Amino acid sequence: IFFFVQEVEQTYIMIKPDGVQRGLVGEIISRFEKKGFLLKGLKLFQCPKDLAQEHYKDLKERPFFPNLIDYITSGPVVCMAWEGDGVVASARKLIGATNPLQAEPGTIRGDLAVQTGRNVVHGSDSPDNGKREIGLWFKEGELAQWESVQTPWLI
Ligand code: PPS
Repeated sequence: IFFFVQEVEQTYIMIKPDGVQRGLVGEIISRFEKKGFLLKGLKLFQCPKDLAQEHYKDLKERPFFPNLIDYITSGPVVCMAWEGDGVVASARKLIGATNPLQAEPGTIRGDLAVQTGRNVVHGSDSPDNGKREIGLWFKEGELAQWESVQTPWLI
């Protein structure tokens, strides 16, 4: 008999250097917290060039690739792993369109950004990429083990 354990969906969310430097960390984290997803990982991190290149490897032929790598490595980012059914698509909705001028008001980019090359936050575009990116940005042991926590402070 084979058991297929359905993995819970996870997404990688990153507050980019402009978001960190503009003091938007609390505001952005707060939107995901209020939505109700489970926070699995969170850290402030200065990204080395090779990690940025690996993260964005599908874009390496694009003309903006060097600028994108310079941007992401220009200062500390906030790395987050969030978990929950449908979290990938829902997080993308909360974030809004890639070009902030096209992002709806009420979304993070719609409210807080104006330029694609300064769009304050990243969110994985598929559950497979969510898994891949969390594996890239977090080491083993850095993610919370909520299964073993009894949440006594919520009672
Ligand atoms: S695609 O492949 O054309 O659909 O690209 P898209 O999903 O729109 O964007 C992929 C990521 O590249 C970033 N991007 C840019 N960065 C800098 N300058 C320009 N012109 C630019 N265009 C796209 C975009 O923000 C996406 O990164 P993330 O981190 O996922 O937001």
